[in-house]
Amino acid sequence: MSVGIVGGTGFIGRALGEQLTQRGRGLRVFTRRATHASVLRVYPQLEVCLADPQDEAALARHFEGLDAVVNLAGILHERGRQTFQAVHVDIPHKVVNACRAAGVKRLVHVSALGASESAPSAYLRSKALGEKAVLQGAGENLAAVVLRPSVVFGREDGFTNSFAAMARLLPVIALPAAQARLQPIWVEDVARVIAFEAEARDTLADPVHLCGPRAVSLQEVVAFIASLVAPHTRVLPMPDALANLQAAVLERLPGPLLTRDNLRSLSVPNTCGAPFPARYGFAPASLEAIVPAYLTAAHSRGRYARYRAGR
Ligand SMILES: NC(=O)c1ccc[n+]([C@@H]2O[C@H](COP(=O)([O-])OP(=O)(O)OC[C@H]3O[C@@H](n4cnc5c(N)ncnc54)[C@H](OP(=O)(O)O)[C@@H]3O)[C@@H](O)[C@H]2O)c1
Repeated sequence: MSVGIVGGTGFIGRALGEQLTQRGRGLRVFTRRATHASVLRVYPQLEVCLADPQDEAALARHFEGLDAVVNLAGILHERGRQTFQAVHVDIPHKVVNACRAAGVKRLVHVSALGASESAPSAYLRSKALGEKAVLQGAGENLAAVVLRPSVVFGREDGFTNSFAAMARLLPVIALPAAQARLQPIWVEDVARVIAFEAEARDTLADPVHLCGPRAVSLQEVVAFIASLVAPHTRVLPMPDALANLQAAVLERLPGPLLTRDNLRSLSVPNTCGAPFPARYGFAPASLEAIVPAYLTAAHSRGRYARYRAGR
């Protein structure tokens, strides 16, 4: 079986690539820049394809011979021509068309929990439109599955690692959106679900919500991270008005840490109302069980892996 991954060089894509390779699957990873795929080149069954996912004809050519395609292309902030519309709506539309043209039988599309056309944030609205494009484009010969993960954590994430870096640096963290509700899920569990869905045969009408075992506030997560790496650092909620002002300044910087749209996303609970789907046959790991191992003793390894990936 061969699987193609659009956006496969990123955080979730790298975990997925490793798992699919271990399962003996042939892999084709699409990237806009070859250097982004450098960490993936260690896998012999993995082929790196230089392709712009905005080029539908090129995608269709490269998808020839694949059994399944996974779409992981995504951004958290808009910059120049990299708009939410371009990445979260146009790319899914082109990926689904290219799958049909190339005769791919299955498409796994990774969206985000909270995706809704009436969501307060442009990020979440664009994710909903991307899902719609995928589900409308699928049909008799192409089964599509939409996955909606909550916040994803893991050794190479930008989430726990950024807060750990902040906690090491600062005596006090003033935390925007401290009361935001999340249900973080481990990247290896997300990759396991994507691999399962890439190999499955049935169709699912509704998006699958993916959460870890426990709903927590952002403040609880950051306080836990600080307790591991800098026990004297205090974590205090930042008043909303100040958080908005700070985001309005930060969003003008290149590669912003936080935007007002991020705050609007965080105003929607990022939690699952139901248990983890029995379909996958395992229970997801908790943040408390996984994070200490990589943030304490081995924290430098993740950092070097990011340098090697050229990020
Ligand atoms: N991480 C989370 O907590 C989380 C939670 C919920 C949903 N998700 C969704 O899961 C997916 C994967 O997330 P991730 O954390 O692995 O993201 P990531 O590490 O930022 O990787 C995203 C991938 O998207 C591609 N990409 C970025 N900008 C692009 C653009 N303008 N045009 C085309 N491709 C572009 C990149 O591929 P190249 O640069 O190699 O071309 C990269 O490999 C995304 O759709 C994200 O929204 C993530």
